[in-house]
Amino acid sequence: MHDAIHVDYDTMIPNNVGLSEDRKVLKALEKWHPGYIDWWKGLGPDGFQEALVYLRTAVSVDPKGWAKFDYVKMPEYRWGILLAPQEEERKVPFGEYKGEAAWQEVPGEHRAMLRRLIVIQGDTEPASVEQQRHLGATAPSLYDMRNLFQVNVEEGRHLWAMVYLLQKYFGRDGREESEELLQRHSGDPDKPRMLGAFNEATPDWLSFFMFTFFTDRDGKMQLESLAQSGFDPLSRTCRFMLTEEAHHMFVGETGVGRTIQRTCDAMNEAGIDDPYDINRVRDLGVIDLPTLQKKANMHYTLSLDLFGSEVSTNAANAFNAGLKGRFHESRIEDDHQLTKDTYPVVKRVNGHIEMVDTPALSALNMRLRDDYARDCEKGVGRWNKIIEKTGVDFQLKLPHTAFHRGIGEFAQSEASPDGDILSADEWAARKDDWLPSKADGDFIASLMEQVTTPGKYAGWIAPPKVGIDNKPGDFEYVKIDPS
Ligand SMILES: [Fe+2]
Ligand SMILES: [Fe+2]
Repeated sequence: MHDAIHVDYDTMIPNNVGLSEDRKVLKALEKWHPGYIDWWKGLGPDGFQEALVYLRTAVSVDPKGWAKFDYVKMPEYRWGILLAPQEEERKVPFGEYKGEAAWQEVPGEHRAMLRRLIVIQGDTEPASVEQQRHLGATAPSLYDMRNLFQVNVEEGRHLWAMVYLLQKYFGRDGREESEELLQRHSGDPDKPRMLGAFNEATPDWLSFFMFTFFTDRDGKMQLESLAQSGFDPLSRTCRFMLTEEAHHMFVGETGVGRTIQRTCDAMNEAGIDDPYDINRVRDLGVIDLPTLQKKANMHYTLSLDLFGSEVSTNAANAFNAGLKGRFHESRIEDDHQLTKDTYPVVKRVNGHIEMVDTPALSALNMRLRDDYARDCEKGVGRWNKIIEKTGVDFQLKLPHTAFHRGIGEFAQSEASPDGDILSADEWAARKDDWLPSKADGDFIASLMEQVTTPGKYAGWIAPPKVGIDNKPGDFEYVKIDPS
């Protein structure tokens, strides 16, 4: 049997799935590869393709040490196919087939649903690379630039992960879907990406950090529930992707945290107590905390929409079929079938917001979203600790789930961040207090300037506490002109 920990780097496509003995799939992937490289060069990072970037590459799936760091030109990054080791005698952990041996092949009657789940996940991966493609030009430091490119190459690898499943298990349909994953583009009016948040612009670095905190965290929740899948190859793929995903959220959380730090430090140095004295704070060349709150409001709510409608038959079917489970399914103490359970779902009843008990199977999106909100809450708490330590009197807060929603129970109504239902006029009058306005965007854009001296940082963001791979502060993470 193939040694699943060892990664084969002799083939063009590094892998631990025995590709060199699987000629058909290897050929299909080799055929797909040039289109992928074209996509990377055309819609991946704008510029910097010749730069040497200090990147980590997965060389193993051993949790104790799976990455190595080295200078790489991005188009030469070794995008590989890496599955977490197979668990002996794994069972389908939930749904109608609970307790049966996990499937190594696609369960025939659920083929279309499984394919759709893989395609939706796959579509988000290249989308974020497209959204972030212009950010290199305004990177606040080489450290940050390197982190951006690391996230980008790994999202590229996540696309490979999903394309492998499509090519290996879905024959001709899978090949067509793999092509289409390269043809849809973020924000394209004719062929957009499949989900809303992945068609939004990422215009500045604060957006990038908020995106990696909030939207990559949606990715984490989706991967966590797919990692539970009874279809074992999907489970193993997602388990390994999660190890990479953690770094993306680290980039987001520390990026926002460093922005907060710099703002509060600058306020203290200038003797400004009032965080709402926005003009004076902005004159210091830092991003005021109320604007940070607005950015968080926006990215959080766009990410909430990614969970779909609170009540969903698709989610119930995917669970019943054993394809997509719950967050930490194995740690939940219940029958893992949910046919008799209920779950409280937030609803609008006669102009009020109420929790209504709903059959648990159809409320799985709501449940995953609740788990997500709790996870976000913890991160926001860590940001607030940073503010508190500086002595500035301000707290960031996640808005109510009824606020600024495009999907689900509150898609047709407007609400304040506290969850008060508003008329259209009230909303129009207050909207700019809660979401970034054009002027806010222009101000943030005015601060975005590229800093390429090793160890130096743009004025709006504090340096990180530690370097990547324990490198010293003035380490040259990107050699932009390596000649
Ligand atoms: Fe990803
Ligand atoms: Fe990610």
